[in-house]
Amino acid sequence: MTVYLNGEFMPLEEARIPVLDRGFIFGDGVYEVIPVYSRHVFRLPEHLKRLQNSLDAVRIANPHSDAEWTRLIGQIIARNAPEDQGVYLQVTRGVAKRDHAFPKGVAPTVFVMSNPLVTPPSAQVTSGVTAITASDYRWLRCDIKSVALLANCLLRQLAVDAGAAETVLIRDGFVTECSASNVFLVKDGVLLAPPKNHLMLPGITYDVVLELAAAHGLPHEVREVTELELRAVDELMLTSSTKEVLAITSLDGRPVGSGRPGPVFAKLHRLYQEYKQTVMRQPALA
Ligand code: PDD
Repeated sequence: MTVYLNGEFMPLEEARIPVLDRGFIFGDGVYEVIPVYSRHVFRLPEHLKRLQNSLDAVRIANPHSDAEWTRLIGQIIARNAPEDQGVYLQVTRGVAKRDHAFPKGVAPTVFVMSNPLVTPPSAQVTSGVTAITASDYRWLRCDIKSVALLANCLLRQLAVDAGAAETVLIRDGFVTECSASNVFLVKDGVLLAPPKNHLMLPGITYDVVLELAAAHGLPHEVREVTELELRAVDELMLTSSTKEVLAITSLDGRPVGSGRPGPVFAKLHRLYQEYKQTVMRQPALA
């Protein structure tokens, strides 16, 4: 695997950062995960916009223009073998003597790698996955795609410990998102999406799903959803760049609706796959 670190391409094994990197010491950095299908980057402008928003929120100057990022990501894709890749990029505040206050005159650390993109196996698509719920005890800026993911890791591990795939998070009686994905609910044929705010990551896949719902006349509402509603939904699904759209068919050990992926999921999954095909017909970056 070839990665990029601060201006150079190298094998992953040779990439090194100093221990005083603030990403290591404080989790002081932001990241993106960008899916690549048949070497076609999925929604790159949207990912770069969200990166800019995250950088602005944590007050790190963007080390690259969008044109530079585009070229860099194209190079990483070209230098790695898989046709389908998950490009991971991370920007930290850089290397400095440990002090909470921002260092002056320090260049950010820029790291880009690519992993083979592993989308859910067909058994998960046809049967759905199980999830548990947990209290969302993360900080109040979940809209920032920060590398400080300790709370997300702890919350995801609760699912793993319970033999489940994801943890659906509830804050003050309202559904926010999952440990590493967004969540959609379906009640009486209406797709429900928690609104974008500081309590959830504005998912790129979330946006695609809402756009597809709007374009194809699928009834949908973006509004706050209570835990009580969550417990009485007909369908539940999660979305992310790597999981795409996946039905949650069991929650806290109880079946969701019929216990099988429902018709709204089936429609959205099909529309999402069709949308991917249109992306792959565009000119490739790499
Ligand atoms: N995670 N919410 C959280 C907390 C996430 O970590 C993610 C994605 C999402 C979905 O966002 P998107 O549709 O843009 O992937 C929502 C990535 C995949 C990760 O950390 O690996």
